[in-house]
Amino acid sequence: MSTMVPFDSARAVTTTALRAMKEASRPIVMLTAYDTPSARLVEAAGVDAILVGDSLGMTVLGFDSTLPVTLDDMVRHTAAVVRGATRALVIADMPFMTFQVSADEAVRNAGRLIAEGGAAAVKVEGGASVAPVVRRLVEAGIPVMGHVGLTPQSVHQLGGYKVQAKEAAPALALLEDCRALEEAGAFAVVLECIPAELAAIATRELAVPTIGIGAGAGCDGQVQVFHDLLGLGGAFLPRHAKRYADIGAAIEEAVARYADEVREGAFPAEEQTTHMDVTARTEVESARGGRLRAVGDHADEG
Ligand code: KIV
Repeated sequence: MSTMVPFDSARAVTTTALRAMKEASRPIVMLTAYDTPSARLVEAAGVDAILVGDSLGMTVLGFDSTLPVTLDDMVRHTAAVVRGATRALVIADMPFMTFQVSADEAVRNAGRLIAEGGAAAVKVEGGASVAPVVRRLVEAGIPVMGHVGLTPQSVHQLGGYKVQAKEAAPALALLEDCRALEEAGAFAVVLECIPAELAAIATRELAVPTIGIGAGAGCDGQVQVFHDLLGLGGAFLPRHAKRYADIGAAIEEAVARYADEVREGAFPAEEQTTHMDVTARTEVESARGGRLRAVGDHADEG
């Protein structure tokens, strides 16, 4: 049971509330969710923000990267999350190639995540190179979260899922990316898989909140992937993640018990069964030329 109350447990969380949390040194809690039941649980647990991440490509759609995720996938899953969350800020990822081609296309595509999906904000991967797009989205009234460091949509360019900006030159470039995103109007920036020291500098330099994942404890908030936290992602656990429960094992055990009971004839039992009254049953049996028999009696009538 949680002992720490959210920043303002009664009110819907806004992008400006996240900024106020940074100013008040209140850590921001963000977690992914991809459907209505998980959004309900995450919100009931008191998270401040829910990210409908394009990580859904891996966690729920079975791909090995985020690259095949479509805008339609994101709209559908965002709407499902929004139906389960009334208080947390819901942020939808803009998937691969929905914001890179042109700012006009980015505005149109982000507009669908807001209007059809019901998200309150979108997230885009990239630094200074996407700042003009971020500016256009913000001018269109769409709040934008930036995302730098390990940007999974660039996995082929980065040569794999590795910690980024360990050397001074890329670290300085990352700080410039953060500054460009803030100047373009981003309301927060995700820092993924970068050294803790660099994340702490970015956090100090930016007025907007930083949300870390594999970026140490010096960020204004943390984001994690639902399936990693709960043991739903199989055996592999990224180094930056911590398993707080093994729901996967609990599900497997429960399903195995169900299968055993079906095979043994123990499920469904009397309490899961509905019966016809005798008159109706007699009528049906005689219309079908049969005779009354006990439910569950599978013997041939002959
Ligand atoms: O898609 C996602 O879940 C993300 C987080 C890892 C930040 O982008």
